Amino acid sequence: MTRKDPRDFRSARWFAPDDLRSFGHRSRMMQLGYAEEEFLGKPIIGILSTWSELNTCHAHFPERVKDVKRGVEQVGGLPVEIPALSVDESFTKPTSMLYRNMLAMETEEMIRSHPLDGVVLMGGCDKTTPGLVMGAISAGVPMIYLPAGPMLRGNYAGKILGSGSDAWKYWDERRAGNISDEEWLGVQGGIARSAGTCMTMGTAATMMGIAEALGLTLPGASSIPAVDSNHQRMASACGRRIVEMVFEDLTPDRVLTPAAFQNAAIVAMATGCSTNAVVHLIAMARRAGVDLGLDDLDRLGRETPLVANVRPAGSDYLMEDFYYAGGMRALMGQIGTRLDLSVLTVTGRTLGENIEGVKVFNDDVIRPLDNPVYHEGSLAVLRGNLCPDGAVIKPAACDPKFRVHEGPALVFDSYPEMKAAIDDENLDVTQDTVLVLRNAGPLGGPGMPEWGMLPIPKALIKQGHRDMLRISDARMSGTSYGACVLHVAPESYVGGPLALLRTGDTIRLDLPKRRLDMLVDDTELERRRAAWKQPEPRFERGWGWMFSRHVTQADKGCDFDFLQSDFGRAAGEPDI
Ligand code: FES
Ligand code: MG
Repeated sequence: MTRKDPRDFRSARWFAPDDLRSFGHRSRMMQLGYAEEEFLGKPIIGILSTWSELNTCHAHFPERVKDVKRGVEQVGGLPVEIPALSVDESFTKPTSMLYRNMLAMETEEMIRSHPLDGVVLMGGCDKTTPGLVMGAISAGVPMIYLPAGPMLRGNYAGKILGSGSDAWKYWDERRAGNISDEEWLGVQGGIARSAGTCMTMGTAATMMGIAEALGLTLPGASSIPAVDSNHQRMASACGRRIVEMVFEDLTPDRVLTPAAFQNAAIVAMATGCSTNAVVHLIAMARRAGVDLGLDDLDRLGRETPLVANVRPAGSDYLMEDFYYAGGMRALMGQIGTRLDLSVLTVTGRTLGENIEGVKVFNDDVIRPLDNPVYHEGSLAVLRGNLCPDGAVIKPAACDPKFRVHEGPALVFDSYPEMKAAIDDENLDVTQDTVLVLRNAGPLGGPGMPEWGMLPIPKALIKQGHRDMLRISDARMSGTSYGACVLHVAPESYVGGPLALLRTGDTIRLDLPKRRLDMLVDDTELERRRAAWKQPEPRFERGWGWMFSRHVTQADKGCDFDFLQSDFGRAAGEPDI
């Protein structure tokens, strides 16, 4: 393998020439206290850290940045920390999804505009993984992903608690009057008890796993708990490896092939992935110029058994157990016959080489293919007159009796309207009713908030019901569960057929046939369409204004049209 000559480093364009500009760059590095021999001819490694004091999942990043730096320095690189937008899932409103593309833009432009030869991307909380990866794909310099890792299992009164999932469960019990204030406070204090991401198979764990399956992390990186000292060692290993990647000129386009995306989708299905994976996988693929669409994901969903017995799709275990059972390497070993093991990864070796000899230590957590948690994968894609461009459901997470279901719609036009009505004990609902929320899509939400697991009406909760069919153009948290149809496209806000639905119309779901329809005849729908008026624009300035003009629908990944790789010529290197 030819090694890159340091004279050909990107950073050499900033620092090497004997001209006035480079004099300026060198003198500014000296202002930082570096001697010429510390940066001239050295790989300069950007560490893009999505840390903030309000990003609880990344609370360990300041320490981990030090570990990455240590690794970079050990092999002769110069590490520089570059903070990137910290989109956290808990506090960012109306939804962190509104800002994923902002992180992607920042990542791309910070890399392109600075003298960086390679980057370590540090993320984990839901949207940070796709945001960082999308931007770094477009920037095109060698990159390695360091996942934040999951937090420790939750615990209260000897009971294991899972992020999100158990919050919803205990909340329903509280609404039903079944648990005391003291218990509720105990759960509050026990459900998130260390740094790290949500430790169910929510969006964070899903996306970190996808990054590993794409070949963008070192082997095993995605499942190490955030506060385990193995995580520190993984961080310094990333630092050492990225320096080598610069010499090997191992750019992301060599890793992110169609086969890598197919592997990632299969792994996602096998893990019981968050429905959000659909949107992010498609967005990342489109950045990489790889053709991956909803129908591909539906096909892989049908063919791939769910083998990770991790909540919410699995019954008993959490990410910490998944790690002890062997983690993502073991899972990929378990389903190795389904994967293309010849793909190149950031290790410089193939996926097959990375997982060679791997063992599963607990086959109840990581099941064999012939004893899966669920015979199909995690997601199914529906089509029909309610969702001509698709909608998504998580079959394993819904009560089997709703797989084929017909019932009357109860339609809410906004989240506040739904919230105000749902606890009314006189609400006219039965378990056959289909709850519908619209104007919650990419533009309508805006940003497709995670409202899709609509609460079960209090009247039904009191009768002991815990599931019913729900439909929206929103997303739902990866830690959610239930018979929830999500990502209806096109969304109602832009006049998708969901906008034409009325309370009382009959809705029919046929999951085996992948159909979702409203049983309203076409002439009536035409009449309603003629009367439909587009809602007022939500934003007249700022980020929201730009977002509304350029965001694509869920089936296209919700990237901005102008950021997709086929929009125009690549920017190339900046003039210096
Ligand atoms: Fe950060 Fe769930 S809130 S991963
Ligand atoms: Mg989440």
